[in-house]
Amino acid sequence: MSRKRGENFFDDEILKHLPDEYKKFLTDFETDPFYPYPFQEDIHGPIQIGLIPGTQTVFGLLPTEINQHALYAGRSGSGKTTANRHTFGELYPRIPCWFIDFKKDYRHLLPYAPDLIIFRWRSLRINPLRPPQGTDPLKWIQIFADCFCQSFGLMSASKSLIVEIIEELYETYGVFDGRDIYPSMFEFHEKLERRSHRKGLPWDERGYITRSKNKTTVCVKLLKDTFDCDKGFPLEDLLAKNVVFEFDGLMDELQTFMVNLILSWVFTYRLEREERGSLQQVIFFDEARKVFKKNYKTDLGTPIIDLMVTQIRETGVGLVISDQIPHQLSDAAKSNCFTIITLSLSNGKDIEDMARTMRLTREQADMLNKLEVGQGIVKLAGRYPEPFPIVLPNVHIEAYLSDAEVDRKMKQTIDGFSIVPRTPLDSIQRTQHSEKHDSSPKQRHMKQPSDSTTGSTTDSSSDFIVKVNEIKRVKKKLARNFLIHIEKHPHMNVTETYRSLGLSAYKGNKVQKELVENGLLEEKRMGKSIYLILTEKGRAAIGSEIPKERGRGKEEHRLYQEKIKTHYEGLGYSAYIEKDRYGKAIDVLVMKPTMTVAYEVELHNTNHIMGNISRDLAVGVDRVVIVTTSNLLEKIQKRIGAAYPANTVSIETIDTYLEEA
Ligand SMILES: Nc1ncnc2c1ncn2[C@@H]1O[C@H](COP(=O)(O)OP(=O)(O)OP(=O)(O)O)[C@@H](O)[C@H]1O
Ligand SMILES: [Mg+2]
Repeated sequence: MSRKRGENFFDDEILKHLPDEYKKFLTDFETDPFYPYPFQEDIHGPIQIGLIPGTQTVFGLLPTEINQHALYAGRSGSGKTTANRHTFGELYPRIPCWFIDFKKDYRHLLPYAPDLIIFRWRSLRINPLRPPQGTDPLKWIQIFADCFCQSFGLMSASKSLIVEIIEELYETYGVFDGRDIYPSMFEFHEKLERRSHRKGLPWDERGYITRSKNKTTVCVKLLKDTFDCDKGFPLEDLLAKNVVFEFDGLMDELQTFMVNLILSWVFTYRLEREERGSLQQVIFFDEARKVFKKNYKTDLGTPIIDLMVTQIRETGVGLVISDQIPHQLSDAAKSNCFTIITLSLSNGKDIEDMARTMRLTREQADMLNKLEVGQGIVKLAGRYPEPFPIVLPNVHIEAYLSDAEVDRKMKQTIDGFSIVPRTPLDSIQRTQHSEKHDSSPKQRHMKQPSDSTTGSTTDSSSDFIVKVNEIKRVKKKLARNFLIHIEKHPHMNVTETYRSLGLSAYKGNKVQKELVENGLLEEKRMGKSIYLILTEKGRAAIGSEIPKERGRGKEEHRLYQEKIKTHYEGLGYSAYIEKDRYGKAIDVLVMKPTMTVAYEVELHNTNHIMGNISRDLAVGVDRVVIVTTSNLLEKIQKRIGAAYPANTVSIETIDTYLEEA
C-alpha cells in the first residue's frame, strides 16, 4: 500500500492548500481543548484521511486499521459521503470496495474508476435462499431466517416457522442430498401461501404464517425480478471488484433485508474459506442505522449483523460506516470501530452520544456543533490515545450520472452475467413424485423396526385398560394421558409435567404415585429435579412406538439431550437431536448465527470421547462442547488436556441446563 502523497486519483486540493484554509479553525492553542496535537509519526499511514489543522501533519490509516472498521458520524451535509469518496480514492485500485448506496451517491465515481460496476436494484439478480458455495445448508437457513426476521421485525416464533418451511423446501429440492437446485423467495412465498390454506391451524400458528407471508409478498412483488432466479449474479467473483449496490427508493424494510443479506453472504462466504489476515475488501455504507439499529424490536437476541461486525474483520473485510443520527446506531457498531470520526453535529442527543463514545471532555464535546463542513474530530482505539481535530479534503465530482447513463454504461457488463432460472415448486414435486417409487435415500431416516428386545412393546393396538387394570385410584384416561405426555416430553421434570398437563401438585402427585407403584413409571433424580421415565410396562401400556433407548444410562443421556435442545431453542436457535452430518450422529447440533456447535453428552469417561470430538470437527462443526456431570468434569478435562484450543473444544456440566424451571 505504500505510495507517495498525492498519487491518488482525486484532486486532493485540501492536502495542498489546507493550512491556509484551515487557519480559521482551532488555531487558538490557548483555548483549544484538543491541544497538543499528535506528531506526524504518531498518526501517519498510507490511507490518507486528512490534515491536522494549522499544520502539515497528515493523518493516515494503516490497512490493518481500516480492517477494524471506521465510523463517520455527522449531520446532513457535514461531509460524510465526500469523506467516503476520498477514502475510496486512497484504496483504489489495490483494495476492492463495495458500496451499499441508498442515495445514488457513489455511481458518480465511475469516471474516476472505470472498472466500477453499478447495480441498480432492478438490475441485480440474487437468490437469498442459495447459500454461499461450501456453506452448510442448515447453517444458511439460520442465517437467512435471522436476516429475514430481524429486517422485517418478526419474532422468534415466526423464525421457527420459517426455519421449518425452508428445511422442508430444501428437503423437497434435494439440497440435503447434495443436489444443486435451490428454492427461491417465490417458492418460499408459495409454501407459506399453501400452509395458510391448511384447515384447523391453531390461531397462533396462523398468525405467524400470515405475518411471514405478508413479508414474502412484499419481497416477491417489489423485488420480482431481483429474486426471480435459482442462482443469481456471481457474488464470489464480484468480491474482487469495485461494486456499487444501489437500493434507493426501496421501502425501508427491504433495504435493511438486502443489506443484511449481502453482509451475511460476504461474511459466511469468507469465513468458510478461512481467508484470514490482511485487508481483502472494504464495504462502505451510509445511513448505517438502517442495519445497525439501536433498539431492535424483535425477541431474537443480539442481531446477527451486530455479531457479524465483531467478526467480519477476521475475514479481512473492513467496514466504513456513516450516519447522520449516531445515537440511533447500535452500540455494537460504535464500539467495534477502530476509527471514529465525528463531523459537525447539531442534535443534542447525538452530541452526547458521540462525546461518550469518543470519551471527550466537556470542552471537547462542545466543539462538535462548532465544526464546519469537512472538519472533524478523530478518536482511534489504539496507536494514538487522544482525540484530535482534522480537516478532510473536498472531492469535486465533475459529472453526475443519470439513471439512463448508468443503464447504458453498465449494460454490457450486466448482460455478461448469467443466471440459473428457478425451478418452481410444482415442477420439482412432479419430478419427485415420479422418483418416489425408487428407494429414496430419505428412507435412511425412517423409523427402524424394533428388534426382538423391544418388539413386544410396539403393539399399538394394545388396550390400555386391559393392560393396566390394576390402576384403581385415578381415572384410567388421566393415567394414560400422563404416560403419553411423558413419552412425548421426556425432558420435563415432574413440576413441568404437572404444569403442562394442567394438574395441581396434589393431583399430579397422586397420578404419579399410582403409576410408579404399578411399575409403569420410574422416578429419577437429576440435579435438583425429579424426572419420570417410562418402564417397559408403561411403554407397553400405551403402545409406545418410540424405540426404547437401550444400554446403561441411556434415558439419562436422552434427557440431557432434550434439555440442551430446549435450552437453545429457548434462546431462539435451532437445535437438533442425533443430527446426522455426513454420517456422523451428533448428540445435539445447535445452529447459532455465526457458528455451528456440537454438544456431546458424556456420562462415562471412556476412550471414545476423543474420537467423537475429532469426528465432529471433521464433519465441519465450528465448536464441540462436551456436556457431562460434575463428578466426571475433572476426569474428562484431564483426558482432553490441551489437545484443542478452548474456543474449539470446551466442557460444561449438565447443571447449566437442569437448573432452569
Ligand atoms: N471536506 C470538505 N471540504 C469542503 N467542502 C466539503 C467537504 N466535504 C463536503 N463538502 C461540501 O459539502 C457538501 C455536502 O457534503 P456530503 O454530501 O459529503 O455530506 P453528507 O454528510 O454526506 O450529507 P448527507 O448526510 O446529507 O448525505 C458537498 O457537496 C461539498 O460541497
Ligand atoms: Mg451523504
